[in-house]
Amino acid sequence: MPRWFLIIFIVLYPLSKVQAATPPQSAIASAHPLATAAGMEILASGGNAFDAAVAVTAALAVVEPYSSGLGGGGFWLLHRAADGYQTMLDGRETAPGASHRDMYLDEHKNVIPGASMNGPLSAGIPGTPAAIVHLAEKYGKLSLKKSLAPAIKLARTGFKVDAHYQRMAKFRKPELNKWSASKKLFLHEGDVPPIGHRVKQHNLAKTLELIAEKGNAGFYQGRVAKQMVNAVKKNGGIWSLADLKNYKLIEREPIRGSYRGMRITSAAPPSSGGIAIVNILNIMEPYDLTRLTGVEQKQLIVESMRRAYRDRAIYLGDPDFVDIPVKQLTDKMYAAGQRASIRMDKATPSSSLPGIAASPEGFHTTHFSVLDQAGNRVAATVTVNYPFGSCFVAEGTGVLLNDEMDDFSAKPGTPNAYGLVGAEANAIAPGKRPLSSMSPSFIESDDAVAILGTPGGSRIITMVLLGMLDFARGNPPESWVDYGRFHHQYLPDQLQYEEGALTAKEIAGLQQLGHELKQTAWRYGNMQAILWDIKQDKVFAASDKRGVGQALVK
Ligand code: DON
Repeated sequence: MPRWFLIIFIVLYPLSKVQAATPPQSAIASAHPLATAAGMEILASGGNAFDAAVAVTAALAVVEPYSSGLGGGGFWLLHRAADGYQTMLDGRETAPGASHRDMYLDEHKNVIPGASMNGPLSAGIPGTPAAIVHLAEKYGKLSLKKSLAPAIKLARTGFKVDAHYQRMAKFRKPELNKWSASKKLFLHEGDVPPIGHRVKQHNLAKTLELIAEKGNAGFYQGRVAKQMVNAVKKNGGIWSLADLKNYKLIEREPIRGSYRGMRITSAAPPSSGGIAIVNILNIMEPYDLTRLTGVEQKQLIVESMRRAYRDRAIYLGDPDFVDIPVKQLTDKMYAAGQRASIRMDKATPSSSLPGIAASPEGFHTTHFSVLDQAGNRVAATVTVNYPFGSCFVAEGTGVLLNDEMDDFSAKPGTPNAYGLVGAEANAIAPGKRPLSSMSPSFIESDDAVAILGTPGGSRIITMVLLGMLDFARGNPPESWVDYGRFHHQYLPDQLQYEEGALTAKEIAGLQQLGHELKQTAWRYGNMQAILWDIKQDKVFAASDKRGVGQALVK
């Protein structure tokens, strides 16, 4: 072989490999067809996955007011293809400056029912607008104005009420009726709107336009900020202009781990998701699941969940306020110690594990996944917490406020809306971020990359875990999102499962081991997932059939 040929080969071969390692198509999976379409429009007009994520986040804020919005927060896990850089945008809400640890307790130190869930006093300072601005400015290719255009249009023209919207509005009708701006926007003459009714949000369109024009200053300062603070204060809340002005979007290093040769990247604190997922997988790792019976598999998974949720309750909170032993909790040796107490022939009562500590469903909060043809990825889980958040819309702004303050532990040991208990690490303090379970994640092998996540309160972690295990089995996204779900969160000491998730034999077997089993009232979760199969050079995407979302590959 001539020498020049060899040189050209050496130079060009790696280049060809790099070029080959890009997806043949792009994909978006989100919880609403109009949001998936908004993202696709931006990709088609030259945007990258990050621009598309801006468009999808903003569109979801318009068409899924019960799940997420400008008045909420979330986590955006990013992978930049050009240099492999990965980061997590922490747009989690912060506790207002005037908050204090006992603010939801009465004079007898008992939790006041609903105080951290309804009305402006339950709202943290929103992070979603700051995340959108940051995403566009630092990672996007297009202007914020361009990426926000589809959402602005949707806010003006409106979206049609479907059965799903009706269920959420029915659930929160009494609270929505309490506030005139919320009632006007999200109900129809004080009642659940009929199917096909158009929800138009002119004030929200104007707020989005201000953000498009001025960036953070359009939301955290000026007219919108003043109107929000006035409305909050007039109605029993404690926000100040300084709280808004001081809000900081934080970039955090994601949590990393490995499972049987696969790489895991997931949400860092103040989410508990990444740590808990990596911990559970570490505990399970030495076992070859294919060699276990159905009952043995479930026993191992459930006992691993129990142990990780115990640590969640004890150690986790906002890393800027409490020292979290991240290294220990994600360490394989630590997991070996936890594994040592698992018996395959007997459930471990949660009360026998040292510690403290107790979730509903999956249709408020929202997740979306994006992959572009350069290989850039976004996994984002965003929320206003409870359906329609606090149910409070700040007059004149169209902004529906979150009730994320409920994710703090109002009183150590007392369960929140998701039955979760926490300790000192997650007590309320001014400027602090409440502990979350949201777990936008990637799992990858040398042959495949998966982008996934879901809403579902405390069950998010175990849903993402089950999705990852299904990826590890070699199954496609359709299978991960359909997968029959089961869950254990340490307290209550109960193995929860959705209809069809366990066979009759498994139910009997697990009961025999001493587990208390409880079938959930309905099937839960709303997973949105993408698989880039590098080996087959194909892209697949799937949207959970439990919801009304849409996954597109183009
Ligand atoms: O951050 C959290 O963990 C919760 N605020 C998420 C709430 C949620 O997923 C509700 N969805 N069903």
